[in-house]
Amino acid sequence: MFIRNCWYVIAWDHEIGPDTLFTRTVLGEPLLVLRRADGSLAAMLDRCCHRLAPLSCGQREGDAVRCGYHGLKFDCAGQCIEVPGMARVPPHLKVRSYPVLTKNRWVFVWMGDPAAADETLLPDNFSNDHPGWCHQPGYMHYEVPYLLICDNLLDFSHLSYVHANTLGGSPEIARARQHIEPVRLPDGRPTGVKVTRRVPDVPPSPYWQSFRDGLEGRFERWFDYHFVLPGTLLMDSGGRPMDAPDDDSRTVRLHSCQTLTPETATSTHYFFQQSCQRRDFERAPDTVGRMYQTLVRAFHEDKDMISAQYRAILATPDLPMRPVPLFDGAVGQFRGLVSQWVDAERAAAAPAA
Ligand code: FES
Ligand SMILES: [Fe+2]
Repeated sequence: MFIRNCWYVIAWDHEIGPDTLFTRTVLGEPLLVLRRADGSLAAMLDRCCHRLAPLSCGQREGDAVRCGYHGLKFDCAGQCIEVPGMARVPPHLKVRSYPVLTKNRWVFVWMGDPAAADETLLPDNFSNDHPGWCHQPGYMHYEVPYLLICDNLLDFSHLSYVHANTLGGSPEIARARQHIEPVRLPDGRPTGVKVTRRVPDVPPSPYWQSFRDGLEGRFERWFDYHFVLPGTLLMDSGGRPMDAPDDDSRTVRLHSCQTLTPETATSTHYFFQQSCQRRDFERAPDTVGRMYQTLVRAFHEDKDMISAQYRAILATPDLPMRPVPLFDGAVGQFRGLVSQWVDAERAAAAPAA
């Protein structure tokens, strides 16, 4: 079961061109996204209401799409506006449409009740589109349930082991205590967890060497992130030489936006980027490309491990997981939150007794 009343990322904005019939499956539902002539987006189920052919097998006609099977034509709200040979279109010929919008280069679709679509639930993915930050957008596809990848992003103790040669490199990270607190919406509802972790007196990450020269000595590293529903990580991370002020020129600061969108119960879309500050980019213009390559290498390390974990779980489905308190506080809280929201939606949808 998935939360429906929330925004899921369906694409990077550049993926949806002016004339394309863009398709992606979210929560098991095949969606079609169109960009209208004025640049705005429309999303609808990729199924013609006549005989259920994919509308994406048809063609664009201005801000409408014509089914490639028998020629019904639909507007961007999913309403059929033409049936070849009929003077009047029966109003029940309609395809489900979905609220869709773009914020900082991510295209979000609301999978629940359209009347409940709430823009205050959108994450602050500012570094996707900020003049002070640079990045290269990324996408990966996983054949595992999305919560297993959430678990991975909520437990950074794996950095020292899975990413020993890319992002991690220091067993002190696994041992560092993390501080966890709830993230709340303005109305007080919890919507995620904030995790902060300080790791003093460690060498600079080998990863930083890919875009910064001359990093030596001991550093304090930090990993401060929000992980908010339905599965978005917003991470402020970096490091500065021990006892140096925040604005020390050797301080490294990164921001990253990553989000998980269930494709089906057992597969997941993963949109990601890691932004460096523009000053690092200007000092070494290949920084963004090198960071992206390092990140992709690290994310394949995650993917190999999580995919192996999922195969193991499927092979021995009755074995329980045993939480480790030092690692799993945020994992447990976030999973609890997902269950609460799913249960609340189910209760709201249940017929009154
Ligand atoms: S299936 Fe689309 S018009 Fe018949
Ligand atoms: Fe990882």
